[in-house]
Formats: sequence, structure tokens, C-alpha cells
Amino acid sequence: MTTPADLSFLATDLDSIATAKGRVALLVPEQGKMDSAARRLNRLTKGAIARLLDSDAFTAAKPGDVTTLAWPTGLEAEAIDVVYLPRTAPQEAARKAGAALGAKLGEAGLLVLAGPVKRVSDVALGILLKAYGYDAQKTRKCDPLGPVRIMCKTPAEVDTAALTARAAGIFFTRDLVNEPANVLTTTEFAARLEALRATGLEVEVLEEEQLAALGMGALLAVGQGSDSPSKVVVMQWKGAGDAAPLALIGKGVVFDTGGISLKPAGGMEDMTMDMGGAGTVAGVMKTLALRKAKANVVGLVGLVENMPSGNATRPGDVVTSMKGDTVEVINTDAEGRLVLCDVMWYAQERFKPVGMVDLATLTGAIIIGLGHENAGVFSNDDGFCGQFLDAAKAEGEGAWRMPLGQAYDDQLKSRVADMKNVGGRPAGSITAAQYLKRFVKDETPWIHLDIAGVASLKTPSTLAPKGATGWGVLALDRLVADGFETTDG
Ligand code: BES
Ligand code: MN
Ligand code: ZN
Repeated sequence: MTTPADLSFLATDLDSIATAKGRVALLVPEQGKMDSAARRLNRLTKGAIARLLDSDAFTAAKPGDVTTLAWPTGLEAEAIDVVYLPRTAPQEAARKAGAALGAKLGEAGLLVLAGPVKRVSDVALGILLKAYGYDAQKTRKCDPLGPVRIMCKTPAEVDTAALTARAAGIFFTRDLVNEPANVLTTTEFAARLEALRATGLEVEVLEEEQLAALGMGALLAVGQGSDSPSKVVVMQWKGAGDAAPLALIGKGVVFDTGGISLKPAGGMEDMTMDMGGAGTVAGVMKTLALRKAKANVVGLVGLVENMPSGNATRPGDVVTSMKGDTVEVINTDAEGRLVLCDVMWYAQERFKPVGMVDLATLTGAIIIGLGHENAGVFSNDDGFCGQFLDAAKAEGEGAWRMPLGQAYDDQLKSRVADMKNVGGRPAGSITAAQYLKRFVKDETPWIHLDIAGVASLKTPSTLAPKGATGWGVLALDRLVADGFETTDG
């Protein structure tokens, strides 16, 4: 398990600068100005800081840019990273500045001299998130992350525990998404979720016999070709008494070969991330528990493996969902919706949630439509959807609303069953969402997030190295904080 660096905020102590180990970062809030920490660093380095601040490289710097002075005289530190960050810089610049420092974080740690900079929490979050490294399958491990100490004006005002909770949730998601499918089997996934009991979450694992008794014929049809047993895991966080919960539902296809409708070989290895929805739900639940959110939230994930075999579901098979509706499986590669429809129905029957958000790496078509910048957002409720879009925007996580409509639903008509599981090539992401909508009760405000394009990237992003991003953990944590937490007590 990858854990975030140890983080602390303290009052500025100029005398400790000279002996700080690792790297020292100086945040410069105004071009051409030196505060007391800058003057102290300048004195220790015999004027090198003043020369750096005067240099063309630094005077051309944009907010968040870093200029490095390596192996400075007069300090024990191995480098000084000078960052231009205006005192009232926006959140995005503060996180970006932190990320630049996080990318360089090593074993010996980092001391940040933040002076009067306001968004120190965002600088810290940027440092923690960008310092993530996935080394579980390497024999040569990354260096452990040293401590991050941030000296600022009002250290007591920062909620260090909440920051670390967010980073730990995101790291949990990233680890799950990055793991290969021979390691993260359905059984291993469930075991890792059961380990979340240590955080105070209630965790139940429903096994195949129970899923069959519940009538989850659609979900079971996806997993029946695999030697790994299908499971549904229910994680409850009860931070607000008896109130009905918000439900988060995740697609957890630990590997998607396509089944009998086998995918082409090129790029098939990327389908280790097809449990990204479940991974995100797990990360949000971990964050909520670690920061002891005053909200009731239940996370449910459907864990299956989509494999071809003599026992696999065939194209043309008709399966019966828990709701009772029958589905003609035209394409066994459209499996995510078969998993989600049963978990969503179960969630509504059992918990009568005040709202339901499902997350899934559901369609390649959403990548064609929105690329890797935005997740697709589908909803039956403008108010709820607006709350989510606001939360995503506030966290800098791309999210774009897509339409729904009867004509798209009509594409799902089947000659032999109540519906088919695909609607043809046009509007592939929307017809997938329409399929899910058939399993949403009229009274349930619902959001579907198609995260196929954002869950894992081939290039580094602002706050993550290559690979799993943890997209959605911040937005959903904020959605809960802003809209679903009780304020009393
Ligand atoms: N897991 C895939 C979608 C996907 C594609 C996720 C690329 C991440 C990256 C999903 O199960 C799938 O195969 N969808 C099909 C649906 C089609 C058969 C209607 C697709 O998008 O091609
Ligand atoms: Mn598929
Ligand atoms: Zn899939």
C-alpha cells in the first residue's frame, strides 16, 4: 500500500533553515521582493538567492514555476527550489506549485518556507499527490518519502488530518487501479476492502450464492466465464445517525477481455483498469472514514472478471436482472452495464438512498467524445447534477454533462427480450447511460460518471504521474462535504 508523505505545518523558524535536510522550497509571493525567510536564505547562500530572483529565468516565471539552486553553500540541504507563487494565487496555481515540489520529494524530505502565501493546504495537497509512485511490482522499490514540513503564518488553521485523508484515499484508488489483474483478483480486491474495517467502515462481502438468491442474473452472467468468483462488496460509513445515505456504485471489472466478443490484442492490457469505478468508490469511502465525515454514505462495488471460456455468456444469451427485466446480450464486451444494473437495483431496494452516483470505465466512445480531459456526466436530476459539476470544478477535475433522451433509449429495443445490452455505434456512451437509467427508480436522483478516459493516463497529469489518476475522489469527497454533511455537533 502506498502511503502519503508525513505532513506537518509549523510556525516559521528561521534558525532551523540552515540545518534542514533534503530540499528547501522558498515560496516567493511577489517578484523582486524578499521576505525574512528569503533574506535568511540569501545570507546563508552568500547572495545566491538575490541573484536567482534577479535572473531572467525567475523574472519570466509564471505562478507555480520552480527554479532550482542545487547543492547550495551555507546549507545542509541538497537543493533550494524557488517558486513564484503570488500571495493570493488561485487554487490551481497553488496545487501546481506543490506538484512541482512533490515530483522532487525524496527520502530526506522537504521544508517549505511559505511565508504569507494563503493557499498552503493546496500547496501541501499538490506535494502529497504528485509524490505518489507505484512500485508494488518492482523488485527495486522507490525511495520512501521523507517528511514534508511547511512553515507558514497560521499553521493551526490547517486541517492536516483532512488533507492526509484525501491523499490516502486517492493513493488507495491509484494502487487498486494500477495493480495487474493476476494480483488484484476479485478475491484480493474484496480482501483489500475488508481491510478498510480498520478505518471504521462497515464492510460486507456478498458471495455468488447470495447474489444468485438476490436474482442478480445480469452481474453473474459477466463473471461466469472466469475462475475468479463474482462478488459485491458493501461499505457503509455512518457518520450522521439514521438518515438515508448517499449511494456510490462502482464498476469493478478486474479484467475485461471482452468475453466471447473478444477484444483485439493491441492494448488489451489496459483493461486492468476496468475496475476504476470500484477503485474510486473505495478511495472515497476511505477518505470519508479517515476524516470522519458527518454523513451517511454507502459504497457498493460489483467485482467480476470478464473472460471467455466454455462456461462464458454467449452473444444472444438472454439474462434476467435483479429488477426482473430481461436483457439480450448482443455483445459480451458491453459487460459493465450488466454489472452496474444489478448493483444499482440492489442499492435502491436495500438503502433507499437520497441520491445515487455510479462510476464506471464504461465506454470507449466517451474517450472519442471527451478525450482524457473530462469524464462524461449523465443525470436525471438537474439540481443534483449541478451540485456534482460544481464540486468537480472546485477540485479541478474535468467533468462534462451529456444528454439523455427517449430516442436514445429506443436504440435498446430487443426483438426477443425487454432490452438489448448495446444500442449500436451512434452515441455509444449515451445509449450505455440510457441502459443504466432503466434501472434507476423515478424517485432516485442519479448521476452516472463514465470515467473511461480519465481513470488512467499514459502521460503524467498535473497532480499524478503516469497511470492511475484517482479522478473523482476529490470531487465526490467535496460533494459529500458541501451537500451531505450535517453541520450540528
Ligand atoms: N471497459 C470497456 C470500456 C473502455 C474502453 C474502458 C477503453 C477504458 C478504455 C467496456 O466494457 C467496453 O468494452 N465497452 C464497449 C462497448 C461496446 C461493445 C458497446 C466499447 O466501448 O467498445
Ligand atoms: Mn467491455
Ligand atoms: Zn469493461
